[in-house]
Amino acid sequence: MKKILAPSILSADFANLGRDVLTAIDAGAEYVHIDVMDGMFVPQISFGNPVIKALRPLTDVIFDAHLMIEDPGRYIEDFAKAGADIITVHAEACTHLDRVVHQIKDCGKKAAVAINPATPLSAIEYVLPELDMVLVMTVNPGFGGQKYIPYCGEKVRELRKMITEKNLDVDIQVDGGVKASNIAAIAECGANIFVCGSAVFEGNIEKNVKEILEQMNK
Ligand code: DX5
Ligand code: ZN
Repeated sequence: MKKILAPSILSADFANLGRDVLTAIDAGAEYVHIDVMDGMFVPQISFGNPVIKALRPLTDVIFDAHLMIEDPGRYIEDFAKAGADIITVHAEACTHLDRVVHQIKDCGKKAAVAINPATPLSAIEYVLPELDMVLVMTVNPGFGGQKYIPYCGEKVRELRKMITEKNLDVDIQVDGGVKASNIAAIAECGANIFVCGSAVFEGNIEKNVKEILEQMNK
């Protein structure tokens, strides 16, 4: 299964966002992970659609929008129009998860569901055949630069087993505390799309991306 690095722009320099994004892509990142926060589902407010719209003309890479917002069904069409290719909603934020997943698919976009560390896999089990990706949060969402929660590796392992047993083709993304020093171990658990925020954008972006890719593909 192909492994992909998805830099999270939450840790980029917002005053030079386009520049930072292009540096990460030129160094080999294949997705751009865009963290949208509403100050309700998570404590912080980050940014919304206008930022996706502004970045869209810069590159053709996959834009992966991680919506950390309450009742995301209200905004699916807006994010699709802004240029997101994958739209991820939190299971915990949707009263009618199946409906929201279909809203995403009806817009012609890839549908993904995220689960917080304490949320069991059963929250997504029945909807799994409808999904392109599951995002297993490896920190409590809301902030960059947090420490990876070790028990999440076991969760990734169980999810990969569930996907294989059901004979499905679903990506597993991990997000939170992922860096060069632990990415190989997390990949071994069965994850194949890796979000890295601070590990990419703090310091030399090009050097960071190259180092992470080397460890990721070990
Ligand atoms: C956290 C966000 C992440 C965050 C990851 O709630 O969903 O995407 O930017 O940051 P790092 O990689 O620094 O843990
Ligand atoms: Zn994220």
